[in-house]
Amino acid sequence: MSHYLYAEGPADQVQNAARHLEVLFEEDGFAISNFEIDEDAKVWALSLYPAEEIADEALSRALDNLKTQDISLPLEKVTLPDEDWVSKSLEGLVPVEAGRFVIHGSHDVGMNTKGRIPVQINAGQAFGTGHHGTTAGCLKVLSEELKQIQPERILDLGTGSAVLAIALAKLLKQTIVATDIDPISVETSRDNVRINEVHPYVKLACASGFSHPIFKEEGPFDLIVANILAGPLCDMAKDVAANTMLGGRIVLSGLLPHQKAKVVAAYRQQGFHLLRAVEEDGWLVLVLQS
Ligand SMILES: C[S@@+](CC[C@H](N)C(=O)[O-])C[C@H]1O[C@@H](n2cnc3c(N)ncnc32)[C@H](O)[C@@H]1O
Repeated sequence: MSHYLYAEGPADQVQNAARHLEVLFEEDGFAISNFEIDEDAKVWALSLYPAEEIADEALSRALDNLKTQDISLPLEKVTLPDEDWVSKSLEGLVPVEAGRFVIHGSHDVGMNTKGRIPVQINAGQAFGTGHHGTTAGCLKVLSEELKQIQPERILDLGTGSAVLAIALAKLLKQTIVATDIDPISVETSRDNVRINEVHPYVKLACASGFSHPIFKEEGPFDLIVANILAGPLCDMAKDVAANTMLGGRIVLSGLLPHQKAKVVAAYRQQGFHLLRAVEEDGWLVLVLQS
């Protein structure tokens, strides 16, 4: 069993709470993430990952702190029975063909991939089984892009289950940097990377945006794929630009068609131009070049 603290609420309350809790738990080094889960309703989620043995204490410290700050957020301890999550996520998971890849669960190992590159994903608690339009869209677009370009430094920002990083590593057999703000995703990624035997290629790190030494060590990049929501993508435009080589390409997903103009404008301001926009299952994938 593992636990974490979780709350959903209005953007300002969640962001405010995250700022205070970051200060409160700075010395403990607990990871905190906050991100938009429903852009139209402006609902955000906050997750805090305390050391397992003091999860209850962390919850009461957090609640006391929020009360003092007059922030009302229904923070609670969430239990994750690990095995159940894994098996649940695999239930009914059928293989998904996307571009040059087929994403499948452990029960389909050995299937006929019809010439596609198999990527085995045990999603566990991380996003990215290939069943979501954003993931499938990225895989299709990357398959097309890699017919035209030969990137040397590749970053998968917001890797989730590491599905994109594994697909890229299997196809290109070269280093792929894969990062996520969520430590549970990074753990899940580590397992998936090992299962797919691409551990010599995929370098994982837990990082919020670009705040980690790995970006200096491995960047700047000539291909970045980031399947994150429109809001964070806009917020990170400057950092993405700073970590992209001149002429490098970025593949952005996690946005809806009506958010295209906002995201493109944010990246235009940073010197990118739009190469193409592809729709997959109601979601948009943008390819831009610096
Ligand atoms: C929609 S999932 C994409 C997962 C996978 N790349 C895919 O295509 O299926 C977005 C991921 O981005 C991560 N994320 C959100 N905000 C982030 C940030 N500021 N920095 C790094 N990762 C972030 C989330 O934890 C989540 O795992």
